[in-house]
Amino acid sequence: MCGIVGIVSSKEFPVRGELLARLKKLEYRGYDSVGFATSEGLVMRGVGELSKFIVRVPAELEAKAAISHTRWATHGGVTEANAHPHSDCEGKLFIVHNGIIENYEELRKGLEKLGHCFETETDSEVIAHLLEERLKRGGMKSALMSLIREAKGTFAVLALRKGEERIYAAKRDSPLALGIAKGGFILGSDIYAFSDATDKAVFFDDDEIAVVDAKGYEFFDAAGKPVRKKVTRFKWARQEEAGHGHAHYMIKEIHEQPLAAERLIRSLETEQAKKVGKLVGMMRRAKRVVLVAAGTSYFAALLGVYFLNRQNVMAHTLIASEFENYVYVDKSTLVIAVSQSGETMDVVSALKFAKKRGAKIAAIVNVPHSTVQRMSEVSLEMMAGQEVCVAATKTFTNQVIAMLFLASKFGFHANFESLPLQIEKTIAANEGKAKALAKELKGRNDVYIIGRGISYPSAREFAHKLKEIAYVHAEGMMGGELKHGTLALVEKGTPVFSLMPAGDVDIVSNTKEVEARGGRVIRISTATDSDFSIPAENGGVFAILSVVIGQLLAYHIAKERGLPIDKPRNLAKSVTVK
Ligand code: G6P
Repeated sequence: MCGIVGIVSSKEFPVRGELLARLKKLEYRGYDSVGFATSEGLVMRGVGELSKFIVRVPAELEAKAAISHTRWATHGGVTEANAHPHSDCEGKLFIVHNGIIENYEELRKGLEKLGHCFETETDSEVIAHLLEERLKRGGMKSALMSLIREAKGTFAVLALRKGEERIYAAKRDSPLALGIAKGGFILGSDIYAFSDATDKAVFFDDDEIAVVDAKGYEFFDAAGKPVRKKVTRFKWARQEEAGHGHAHYMIKEIHEQPLAAERLIRSLETEQAKKVGKLVGMMRRAKRVVLVAAGTSYFAALLGVYFLNRQNVMAHTLIASEFENYVYVDKSTLVIAVSQSGETMDVVSALKFAKKRGAKIAAIVNVPHSTVQRMSEVSLEMMAGQEVCVAATKTFTNQVIAMLFLASKFGFHANFESLPLQIEKTIAANEGKAKALAKELKGRNDVYIIGRGISYPSAREFAHKLKEIAYVHAEGMMGGELKHGTLALVEKGTPVFSLMPAGDVDIVSNTKEVEARGGRVIRISTATDSDFSIPAENGGVFAILSVVIGQLLAYHIAKERGLPIDKPRNLAKSVTVK
């Protein structure tokens, strides 16, 4: 899992100001190490984030073709040796790779027997040596065809040969797109890599090869036959690089929620109305609706299940990585993927599985033209704009709104008009309280969040934020389940957040059970005298607003602890490996 960018241009371009500036846009895909190679054969690699590496790259360094990589480590530790690009034995061919070569050990052994020397612990290095070996029998195109034939697993690969101003590319499962820019081409893991330079892209399909130079590009299938590719025009809000006036993207994105919510609601009612109608039709015709998602998106999907089941739509959800094992899908099933990036490998794999079983596929995504969107018959866009912080905030809110909107077509009550303002009021009234509580909780390592019914998924997402951003061990759980085990962990002063939507009498009892054992209860409810009061007139709104409190709290605890809020350790925003 990683981000890759390659550029070929008729004029020399600055490596630092152009190639690495584009790579920075993909840093959300991983930030363990970074590196690049130019067609002149210059290679630089470094551990850590791009900002630390970039200062070592001479500003005047230029190239006509270059490839680069930002890594999220899978095979092999976070070291300079394991940083991409990797090269062949002779240092004449360089590759960057996103994905996992599952049979790399077997391939490596075979290549070692033929005399190849490996210098890293990665699975990716095998690609460089395999290409080197196959080049003995033919050109790069046939070497890449061999890679497609021989490599098991997933890959988006860019390859560069010393002395050639040309980039070779191949992909399976991992995303790869070609941007058609002025005077050249930009290859990237997704459209972020070039959305400021062009609105025209060609998306790679599985097992395709491309050869790209400054004059043009050619695509081939796995058998080497030329493929005619469609050029897609895309619209995408550009990332604001700097000067957004907030200390971190996370808090900027928390504050953007009212606007993002309003944008989505308006769009669902107008430009996306047709797609909503189509999706609702598919839901009505399906025997069952199964939502599939990972991470934060899963908690939004869980809320979706709650909303839909209430309206007698048979709905289920499951974490994408276990989808094949625990969910039954067939021709009469509609599978709806919920994904911010639209690239999460677990989600893509689950959709492939569902497709094979004959299920219909739809999606709710934030990034247009993403793999998930392209796999779906109909796809709603979340309209949250680019989310830079690794932890999802505004996209969660918009996912839940999209779910609520669909459920409202089946009769679920929600007042969309007032929702953006309620989010704004919640932030305004509670940010100071979250800041103060963060000071108290900054030393605590175990926190519980309880919710029942509609607030159970919110309890899970609340805990998820505390784990990801504040590194607090937090457990979000069903209020009713607490007494069946976890209550044993509650002692004097243990922080327990209770999400208490109006009318939920059982959560009141569960909260008292905690209090009776000396737990430090923090109430989130609509009552004005609660610790965090939220203006929620119904359950759906409560579910959103209570998570906003969790977002604020996670942010401020992380700040108190001096943590790297936008890029938490070991995580990445888009996880494109299983
Ligand atoms: C990663 C991110 C999470 C995100 C999850 C699912 O783990 O760190 O923040 O919720 O992927 O991502 P998706 O793009 O499919 O919503």
